[in-house]
Amino acid sequence: MMNGHRVNRQWRLKSRPVGLIKSSDFDLGTEPIPELKEGHFLIRNIYLSLDPAMRGWLVDRPSYVPPVQIGAVMRGFGVGVVEKSNHPNFAVGDKVQGMFGWQEYMASNGEGVTKLPQSTFPLSANLGLFGLVGLTAYAGLLEIGQPKEGETLLVSGAAGSVGSLVGQIGKIKGLHVVGIAGTREKCDWLVKDLGFDAAVNYKEGDYKQQLKAACPKGVDLYFENVGGEILEVALSRMNNFGRVVVCGLISQYNATAPVPGPSNFAAVISKRLKIQGFLAFDHAAKMKEMVSNFIEWHALGKLKYRVDIVRGLEAAPTAINKLFDGSNHGKLIVQISDAPTAS
Ligand SMILES: NC(=O)c1ccc[n+]([C@@H]2O[C@H](COP(=O)([O-])OP(=O)(O)OC[C@H]3O[C@@H](n4cnc5c(N)ncnc54)[C@H](OP(=O)(O)O)[C@@H]3O)[C@@H](O)[C@H]2O)c1
Repeated sequence: MMNGHRVNRQWRLKSRPVGLIKSSDFDLGTEPIPELKEGHFLIRNIYLSLDPAMRGWLVDRPSYVPPVQIGAVMRGFGVGVVEKSNHPNFAVGDKVQGMFGWQEYMASNGEGVTKLPQSTFPLSANLGLFGLVGLTAYAGLLEIGQPKEGETLLVSGAAGSVGSLVGQIGKIKGLHVVGIAGTREKCDWLVKDLGFDAAVNYKEGDYKQQLKAACPKGVDLYFENVGGEILEVALSRMNNFGRVVVCGLISQYNATAPVPGPSNFAAVISKRLKIQGFLAFDHAAKMKEMVSNFIEWHALGKLKYRVDIVRGLEAAPTAINKLFDGSNHGKLIVQISDAPTAS
């Protein structure tokens, strides 16, 4: 059993990180497990999601969510199990999902907590395939990107949890799919296991030439997860009237100085490009449709996913940097207590 202790360990923000997150930016403290009030229930957290966006939540600036305050428990999605309940709609043993934070236990009145259905998928899949990651890929590509059969789709961050789903959905929709990723192993996985048409390693010197060769008809749709030089290279490959879906700009999340824009931004005018950013949260209405399609595509072997599970709450502040050095292989998750045998 992973959490034998009967206290609530929590990571609280101590200081705002400069550059990469450090463990010393947080305090690992303990408090008693919350007493249950009437109408509340106690969640034991099992899996915490580590997401690139969390780096932005630590910066004191206006954004789509307020920054995590100094002294507060670090915000984060999680899945857990109800251990005690004084709530009519949540029973002991229910699997639940919500913004539970970097802590072992949370008391809730049910607000913002979703009960998870019985499933043959592992509980952790609710943070990847069937979670925000899945919705980001599904809505970002299909709603914002509006792909058309036969088009060329270029995806950056292609071997990541969002990127790998985007490329596979692209294949299902009949596109020529090319990925950009940071290792040879990741590129091989994209082509040999996931069916991408080609993948180039942006850490290899000749990747711009390889990309040109991999997109002989140019790029109609670019799904952007990275930014920086890769955005410049992608703009240079875009076809006239192409579309750019801006999902994330992970290369600049730890920047300590303002990041210059793409030097060839004028291509947007000469090529008459359409660029649109989006937030997955705005597309929650697509969740049901996404889940049913994903179950079907997964059963047909057309949609694969992988998870990268790090064990122990204490690992959270260091493990998050796997997203920024590329050492995660799939959806990055911290397991902080034992999962029930059947989900
Ligand atoms: N708009 C939304 O609603 C929304 C929601 C969720 C996620 N996102 C965005 O989607 C993107 C992917 O997120 P994810 O959760 O799926 O993470 P992920 O792709 O599983 O992991 C991040 C990957 O980014 C790559 N990377 C990191 N730093 C890089 C750099 N400087 N240059 C190039 N590649 C770099 C690394 O792969 P390599 O080995 O290939 O370098 C790393 O494995 C992020 O930009 C995130 O912010 C947006």
